[in-house]
Amino acid sequence: MIMKIYYLIPIILILLIVYTAYEIFEFRFRKYVHFKLDLGLGLKAVIITDLHNKSFTKRDLKLLSSEKPDCFFMAGDLLISKEEDNKKALEAMRQLCAIAPVYFSLGNHELKYRVYFKEQWDEFIKSLPDNCFILDDSHMSLGEKAEIFGISLKIENYKKGRLYDMSEEDTEVFKDIPEGKKKILLAHDPDFYEYYDRVLDADLIVSGHLHGGFVRIPFIGGFVFSRYGVKHRVKGIYAGKHLVSSGAGEHLMPLRVFNRCEIDIIDL
Ligand SMILES: [Fe+2]
Repeated sequence: MIMKIYYLIPIILILLIVYTAYEIFEFRFRKYVHFKLDLGLGLKAVIITDLHNKSFTKRDLKLLSSEKPDCFFMAGDLLISKEEDNKKALEAMRQLCAIAPVYFSLGNHELKYRVYFKEQWDEFIKSLPDNCFILDDSHMSLGEKAEIFGISLKIENYKKGRLYDMSEEDTEVFKDIPEGKKKILLAHDPDFYEYYDRVLDADLIVSGHLHGGFVRIPFIGGFVFSRYGVKHRVKGIYAGKHLVSSGAGEHLMPLRVFNRCEIDIIDL
C-alpha cells in the first residue's frame, strides 16, 4: 500500500506542474463570474485588471467581441512600471477600444511608470484612442444614469508594511458627486475598501492588484497577508458590491497556482 502511494507522488507532481503551466501560459479569457447587480443601467461591462503590458491574441479578441460588451473597465496595472517599452499595452488598449469604450483608472505600475518614464507616459496617453477615458482621480458620466470614478491613490499607499491612514482630503476625486446617479468606482488596490466606503457610497467597486493571491489552495483561498490590519479582499465579490479580480496577467515571476488569469463580465 505504502509503495503504491510512493508511486503516485511523482504523477501528482507532474500533473500539478502541467496544470500550473496551463494557468500561466494559456491566457486569459475566463468568464469568472456573471454577477448581476441590478443597477438598471442595461450595460454589460467587461473588467480587466493587471494586464501588465500584454496584448490580446485573435482568439481572445474573438471571445471578447462575442460578449458584445458596452464598455470595458480597466482597473489599473496595464503597464509594468520598469518596462519602458509600452507597445503591447498600447496595442491592447487599441484592440479593446475597437470593440467598446474603455474606462481606465491607474494602478501602482502607472504611478511609478509616469515618474520613471515621463516622456513615454505622455506619448502613451496621447496615442490612446478617443474612446479611452482616463480616470486619474476624476469622474465622468457613464451613460445617463451612472457616474464612474477612478481613484489613483499615491505611490506611498503601496509601500508594503506601511499603514497609510487615508483621510477625506487625500484625493479630489470624490468632490462634486452628482446626485441621483448610480456610482461605480475603479480603485486598483482593494485594501482601502474602508476608505472607499467612507467617502463614496458606491454601487460597485472594481479592484485588482493582488493577483488573486498568486497561489491559491482549493477551499482555503489565496496567500496574501494583510499589510494594513484589514482582512484582505483578494479575489471574488465582497459585501455584495466589491469585485476584486484575480487579474489578467503577471510580471516578474509568472506564478499562478489554482489561480487562472481572469477577465470578468458583469451586467449592470
Ligand atoms: Fe498593482
